Amino acid sequence: MAPVRNIAEPDESLRTHLRAATMAAHDLLDHAMQAASGWQTRADYARFLALQHAARAPLEDWLAAHAPADLCPPPQTPLLARDLAALGLELPAPAPVLTLSSPDAGTALGTAWVLAGSALGNRAIAKQVARIGSGEWPVAFLGDDAMMAFWQGLRLRIEQPAAPGEAEGATRAAEAVFAHFLEVAENSQSVETTPESLPA
Ligand code: HEM
Repeated sequence: MAPVRNIAEPDESLRTHLRAATMAAHDLLDHAMQAASGWQTRADYARFLALQHAARAPLEDWLAAHAPADLCPPPQTPLLARDLAALGLELPAPAPVLTLSSPDAGTALGTAWVLAGSALGNRAIAKQVARIGSGEWPVAFLGDDAMMAFWQGLRLRIEQPAAPGEAEGATRAAEAVFAHFLEVAENSQSVETTPESLPA
């Protein structure tokens, strides 16, 4: 595997740099999430939503406390809670708190990029979920238009080179956020939901 660069090339856009630096982590996470939950059955899909809720809750709390408003993606945990409730499930236990490094602009930017960029994958997953669930499974989270709108705004900001310090901080934060999701996926038994009624 090629060594990961935390330092961006001077003419490289921040988005290109972040994608290259975290490509392997994203692939690992994609596989781990499909192994831990996936979305082939209603019960799988409920586990997927629970895992997303557990992983995102501490990150949304961190952003709300430390990030400027333009780097706070629309919270997804209320949408995940709504989808879980529609499936007859309660909220999962929260994941361990993630400690991000010092709250500078790069840290918030890298964290916001991972959370908002995942909306691209969510669109692809939503199509599969619509097909597998015959259009009956709730998709408030996967189909969130507000997150997609936030993503479009963020793209304008990251499709240009960032200041070196900011790129470094953003990369470190993005790596930490992927590692956090991976940890939650690998310990997914800790985010089991309490079924009010067993999903089919
Ligand atoms: C669950 C399985 C997942 C699948 C199948 C998946 C799939 C995808 C796909 C198809 C893309 C678009 C690639 C492209 O257009 O070049 C993408 C991009 C991305 N995903 Fe995922 N993803 C998954 C999980 C996640 C998770 C959990 C996160 C966040 C923690 C995440 C973060 C991102 C980011 C940051 C991008 C890149 C955004 C950019 O292009 O700047 N993904 N993913």
